[in-house]
Amino acid sequence: MIIRKTMKDTIAIVLAAGRGTRMKSGIPKVMHEILGIPMIEHVLSSIRDAGVKDITVVTGHGSEALKKSLKGTKVLRQKNLLGSGDAVNTARVSLKGFGGNVLVVCGDTPLLKSDTIKNLVRKHETSRATATVLTVTLKDPAGYGRIVRDSDGKVMKIVEEKDAPIYEKVITEINVGTYCFKGTDLFRALAGVKPDNNKKEYYLTDVIGIFNRERKAVESLETDDSDEAIGINTRKDLALATASLKNRTLERVMAFGVTIEDPSSTTIYPGARIGRDSVIRPNTLIESDVTIGRNCSIGPFTRIRPGARIGDGVEVGNFVELVRTAVGDNSKIKHHTYLGDTSVGKNVNIGAGTIVANFDGVRKNRTVVGDSAFIGIGARLIAPLRIGRGALVGAGSVVCKNHDVPDGATVVGVPARVIRKKKVLGRAR
Ligand code: UD1
Ligand code: MG
Repeated sequence: MIIRKTMKDTIAIVLAAGRGTRMKSGIPKVMHEILGIPMIEHVLSSIRDAGVKDITVVTGHGSEALKKSLKGTKVLRQKNLLGSGDAVNTARVSLKGFGGNVLVVCGDTPLLKSDTIKNLVRKHETSRATATVLTVTLKDPAGYGRIVRDSDGKVMKIVEEKDAPIYEKVITEINVGTYCFKGTDLFRALAGVKPDNNKKEYYLTDVIGIFNRERKAVESLETDDSDEAIGINTRKDLALATASLKNRTLERVMAFGVTIEDPSSTTIYPGARIGRDSVIRPNTLIESDVTIGRNCSIGPFTRIRPGARIGDGVEVGNFVELVRTAVGDNSKIKHHTYLGDTSVGKNVNIGAGTIVANFDGVRKNRTVVGDSAFIGIGARLIAPLRIGRGALVGAGSVVCKNHDVPDGATVVGVPARVIRKKKVLGRAR
């Protein structure tokens, strides 16, 4: 209860205006995707999951593109990119003397966990500090701001690597770039920050030294998951973060009761849900917005794309791609198949090499395959099309659009024609 109330009194500012020069890219740094989701969306979901609802994103470089992709989130534009301190200051006017907690998070730290944010805000509240800084100790702290403490262990200041003398460069405890501040103290201190550093920028991190000079309490929280600190500045960092998030997602899926035969060649995006006792075989990619039921066998070499809804006991085998496709319980799609915008019923057999032509050059059209239908090898199904329940499509047939196959009928040939009709009991799907 207490933490929920605290989160209500906390607003967040996400810094995302930076040029991201080191990415050498034409798109804003925070829009680069990690497992199918822009980097900044990972940050925003962690903040939201922690219970902070009022979020402002500070944009600058590529502001328009970013604004478009962040629809629904408050966005403020930093006019001149004068540093992280100036970026936070951009939000000052719109906050109009807000007296609660201000959580500041960098938009380029996508592995930050919601629990860590909660713990940071909780510590900030219970210690009644002016600022609480999230830190981590790294074997290789290169590139990060260092946490400078006094002999009693109190945080004195944060020094950026470029400005640190050798005796501070050896410090291995670094600034993750996530902080909780008392709002009023933060904006007052920012007014005193000067760009007297190697980059000639207004550093947000300088407020820590200012608070110390003012004898205001600065606290810290150290996380033991060093991956949370990965700040994306280069493509190499992006690959590192992707690998880490991939492992995190695989671990979550396995903890839920799913077998991953070869984690090193399997990628599952965070937005996928997989039921227990399903087995994911090597070289498989399962993207976001995918649901897979229980006792399924997926892969090897399978790609399941967004909008796939797979029931229980389904087998999806090698070189199969599914997108926006539902598959009913106990159906089999075992080899070399593409199904898009398709609804497959229960107990269906999709033969090797079946291809659905869902795109006619203008529109994506739907295909429906009824329960217990049997699609022979190498069939081509041209949408929009409905294959009836218990129907049989002969090997190599091309079933043309709008040439629906009645329940129980057998069609063969190019173009496919009905050669047999059979009564099927029950209502058509
Ligand atoms: C920053 C921290 C550093 C920390 C590291 C963690 C500062 C001065 N340093 O360094 O202590 O260890 O993050 O990853 O903050 N930004 C703006 N406007 C600007 C400049 C930057 O919004 O004018 C944003 C960037 O988009 C980014 C964040 O602020 O999200 C940090 O900027 P960046 O240039 O990435 O700083 P780092 O060198 O990584
Ligand atoms: Mg950075």
